[in-house]
Amino acid sequence: MNIKSAKNLVLFVLIYIFASPTFAADSSSATFLDKEARFHPVISQLGMVVSQEAIASQVGADILEAGGNAIDAAVATGFALAVTLPRAGNLGGGGFMLVYLAEENKTIAIDYRETAPLSADRDMFLDPEGNVDNGKARFSAQSSGVPGTVAGLLHALEQYGTLSISEVLKPAIKLASQGFIINYDLADSLRLSSKRLQQHPSSKKYFYKAQGQYFLPGDRLVQSDLSRTLKRISKQGSAGFYSGKTAELIVQQMQRSDGLISLEDLANYNVIEREPVCGTYQQYSVCAMPPPSSGGIHLIQMLNILEHFDLKKMGHNSAAYLHHLIEAMRSAYADRSLYLGDPDFTPVPVKQLTDKSYAQALSRAIDPQKSRRSTDVYPGLEKWVTSQSSESEETTHYSTWDKHGNIVSNTYTLNFAYGNGIAVEGAGFLLNNEMDDFSAKPGSANGYGLIGGSANAIQPQKRPLSSMTPTILFDTNNKPILATGTPGGSTIITIVLQMILNTIDFKMGVAESTAAPRIHHQWLPDTVSYENGISVDSLKLLSQMGHKISSRPRVLGSTQSITAKGSILEASADSRRQGAAAVSQRN
Ligand code: GLY
Repeated sequence: MNIKSAKNLVLFVLIYIFASPTFAADSSSATFLDKEARFHPVISQLGMVVSQEAIASQVGADILEAGGNAIDAAVATGFALAVTLPRAGNLGGGGFMLVYLAEENKTIAIDYRETAPLSADRDMFLDPEGNVDNGKARFSAQSSGVPGTVAGLLHALEQYGTLSISEVLKPAIKLASQGFIINYDLADSLRLSSKRLQQHPSSKKYFYKAQGQYFLPGDRLVQSDLSRTLKRISKQGSAGFYSGKTAELIVQQMQRSDGLISLEDLANYNVIEREPVCGTYQQYSVCAMPPPSSGGIHLIQMLNILEHFDLKKMGHNSAAYLHHLIEAMRSAYADRSLYLGDPDFTPVPVKQLTDKSYAQALSRAIDPQKSRRSTDVYPGLEKWVTSQSSESEETTHYSTWDKHGNIVSNTYTLNFAYGNGIAVEGAGFLLNNEMDDFSAKPGSANGYGLIGGSANAIQPQKRPLSSMTPTILFDTNNKPILATGTPGGSTIITIVLQMILNTIDFKMGVAESTAAPRIHHQWLPDTVSYENGISVDSLKLLSQMGHKISSRPRVLGSTQSITAKGSILEASADSRRQGAAAVSQRN
C-alpha cells in the first residue's frame, strides 16, 4: 500500500468511526436520537438505511445487521415508520417501491397505491351545483382509498426478502406496544394538526393525552391498538389486515363516519408489479415509477428536454439555468394534466411522453431569454381556477442499500399529513385521503393545485394519479449510483430532477446535492416557488425574463438518498424536516 492510499484508508476509517451509529441497540427507548443530530452524511462499506425518522432508520440498519437484505430492511423500516412517523408512515395509505436486485441487474416497480372503493363514483365529490366539495374530497371518510401499504410491503418481503414476516415486524410491534420517546418533530406536528385530528374521537384518543392535552418532547407514545393490528399482520400476513378483525374494524369505522370501503374492497385489493419507466440522460440511465405515478414519465421527459442545453456552462442555480428548468417543468406538467392516469383504466402514452424527439421539439419551444405563459403552453386554460393548498405535503421517502448491492427506493403516503385525520377505532392507524389525488372534476385543482382531466377521473377500483417518484440512477457502466426520492406532493418530481442534475451536471456529493436550494414550477399556477438560498440576483433576472416568482420562499421536500462510489456507500438525510437520519450497518 502506498502512502497516499494508506492515508485514504485512515481517513475513511476515521470518517466511518465518527459517522457510524454508536447508540444502544434498544431502539424502542432510543432517547439518544434526540440528543444527536444525524444530518451529516453517513459513510459505510456495509449496508445503509435513510429515512425521515431516526428510530425507523435504526430498525432497518438492525435488520441488515441481522442478515437481512435491502428489501427486508425496507419492509421493517416501512412498518416502523407507521409507528414512529404517524403523519406519513402508515398502514392505512399506499405507495410505490423500486427494488433493484444486484445479482440479476434488474429493477422492479411495485405499485401498492390505494384504489377507489367499488361504490365510488365519478361525481362523488361534487355538490348539487356541480362544484367540487373540497372538504368532502380531502377530510371526509369518503376521501379514503382502499389501503395498499400492508399488501405492498408484504409482497416485497415475500418476493424479494429473506426474513420472515415476524422478524421484520418485531421492531414495529415493540415500538407500538412499549412505546417510544416523542421527539420535537412529532410533538410539534401533532400540536399543529390538533384541530383536525381532535375532531375524531379515535384520533384524539390515540395521539393526545387525556382531555386532548399535547404530548411533549420526551413523553412516551404507546400505541396498544396499533400493536395488536401489527401482531395480527405478523401472525396472519395480509389476511391480518384485509380480512378478519382488522378489516371489520375498518368497515365499522366507515359505517360510523359515512365512508365507502367495504369488506369486499379490502378482500379485492391487489399489488401490481410494473415495469419501471427508464430513460437516459447524457450517458447515465435513470429508472423511476411508471403510471399510476406521473413521476417517472415526467422526470425522464424533463431530463430529455434539458439534455439539449449546456446546463453546466450556465452554472448551478444561475438565472439561465433556473429559466431552462422552469420551462421544462412547465411543459411536463401541462402534459401531466391531460394524459396521465391509471394505465389499467386509461391509455397513457408513456413512449411518446418519454420520447427523445418529442423532448427535442419541446426544447425548441424554449426561448433562452424569455419566460412563456402557461396559458400559451396549453391554450384555453384561463377559465380553469387553481388554488394552492395550505396543507402540508406529507408523503415520506426512504432508501435502503445492502452490502450485496440490492437497493430499495420507497415512497409511501397518507396524502396529507395524517391523511384525512380519521383513525380506525380499535385498530390504531390513520386513514388516507388519497381520493383527492383523483380529478374530482375536469379542470379542477386537487390539494396540490394540480389540474387533471378525465384520464384521472374517479372510477371504482382505479388508482389515483400520483407524483411519488422513487428513483434509481445508474452510471455509464449501468451500476446504480443513487437511490433517491422525497415527499412534497406535486413538487416531488421537480425535486428528484434537481437531485439528478446536481449529481450528474454539477458533480455534487449526496450531502451537497441534498442541501442545495431548490425551485419548483408546475405549469399551473404559473408561479415559481423557490427556497431560501436561491440568490436574489437570480430571482431578479428571472422576473425580468417574465417569470412570476412566488412572494415568499418555501421549503421543498425532504430527500432521503444513498449514493455509491465503488463499494463505499454515502447517505444523506435531508435536514429540511426535523428527525431524519441515515444509519449504517455496523457489522
Ligand atoms: N399523494 C401525493 C401523491 O401521491 O402524489
